[in-house]
Amino acid sequence: MNLKFDYTHAFFKGQPTKKNLTELTGELQRVQNSMRMMREIDELGFADLPGNEAMAREVAKLAKRYKDFDDVVVLGIGGSALGFIALKDALLHPFHNLLTEGRVAPRFHVLDNIDPELVGGVLNLIDPAKTLVCVITKSGSTAETVGQFLIFHDYFVAKLGGKAEANKRFVFITDPDKGPLRALANEEGIATLPVPANVGGRFSVFCPVGLFPAALAGIKINALLKGAGEALTTGLDAPVLKSPSLVGAALHYLHYQQGRRIAVMMPYANSLFRTADWFRQLWAESLGKANDVAGKPVHIGPTPLAALGATDQHSQVQLFAEGPDDKLYTFLRVEKMRRDLPYPKSPWKQDAFTYFKGRSMRKLLDAEAEATRYALTEAGRPCVTVFMPRLNEETIGRLLMHLELQTAAAGLLFNINAFDQPGVEAGKRYAFGLMGRPGYEKEAARVNKATAKPFVLEG
Ligand code: PA5
Repeated sequence: MNLKFDYTHAFFKGQPTKKNLTELTGELQRVQNSMRMMREIDELGFADLPGNEAMAREVAKLAKRYKDFDDVVVLGIGGSALGFIALKDALLHPFHNLLTEGRVAPRFHVLDNIDPELVGGVLNLIDPAKTLVCVITKSGSTAETVGQFLIFHDYFVAKLGGKAEANKRFVFITDPDKGPLRALANEEGIATLPVPANVGGRFSVFCPVGLFPAALAGIKINALLKGAGEALTTGLDAPVLKSPSLVGAALHYLHYQQGRRIAVMMPYANSLFRTADWFRQLWAESLGKANDVAGKPVHIGPTPLAALGATDQHSQVQLFAEGPDDKLYTFLRVEKMRRDLPYPKSPWKQDAFTYFKGRSMRKLLDAEAEATRYALTEAGRPCVTVFMPRLNEETIGRLLMHLELQTAAAGLLFNINAFDQPGVEAGKRYAFGLMGRPGYEKEAARVNKATAKPFVLEG
């Protein structure tokens, strides 16, 4: 089930032109060769996941063990949570947790924040005896996730009468060898799944980080991996100007050079909004960098922005159409939705009501997507549309892998390392300092000194 990447409206009279894209062919060839080479030397870890059948089997086997739980709580943040959230929203019923009839999978609560009201709210909902907690952190030391784990574990011990019963209800998804959580799992005999060492958080949706909760949700992980594998073949093996991932990266790169430094992703399907959110992290954390690969300061990176059609037509589209010409738009559209609602014949005669007759909600959504795209291009705003024939495991697998490849390729075009995140690590260290973690005293002192004389207004 191929996706269609329509870039008819990515060029206007000004720069960049279609010719600029063609002129980039040699550079794209270099990028494709680099990605293939990186793959050979195990530096493109995410690209090995679709073909890793042993991993998929291990995930499915462990998921089977926990199939009778009522609730699953996922503790994780950033790349450790966003992939599963995207999958869950794309593939489960929009009100999955509220279904009383026909819900075969457990309820899911993904806690990717440390708002005590949110976390406490989930503690109020669950029965520890019938709840599985997946603790997902590659490093095993992220403060948000480790702190949540302590609270849930303590709660489970208290409610279940001891550590042995509590431990049975935890699964750790973490580094295969290193980190505090791996060590704890060994000590306590807690079940685990590995995050491959060469797969970073935001590229981890096709490893146990995304696959394990997906399998618990009844998502067909083999179909997901099949779709991802197909996108990989197209992305890495097709001639460069036929590879949607390489052309997508090139368009973003060319528009960035012309001052279009914001990448808008706007799905016309609620079920894909969190995919746009997942992409937001992937694009921002991978491409926003201070230095290029040679260490030269560049302070580069397109800013991703998520919008939802049709909702945000009544929110951001005014800015998109008439504000600064600093954005490249990617629309996501689903050609055959899983459901449609025909409009009934109106009992009133006014035109404002009668034209709905014989049409459906789906038809209106489509018309609005087409109309908005047209209005934007009429205003000279460049757009790309990704059409998905349907939304299912295979097509979402394709889409996510395409976007991962596009990101890796964009990193090579921008000449930065798309796989590190020094800016995030710095914040993590300062937070450790402020929480009094031993070894981070200097970090605490630096923050405290810098905030000693604040400018604060009261009103
Ligand atoms: O993409 C990334 O690398 C980050 O967003 C991490 O996923 C995030 O910081 C959480 O890290 P960890 O999985 O180590 O808890």
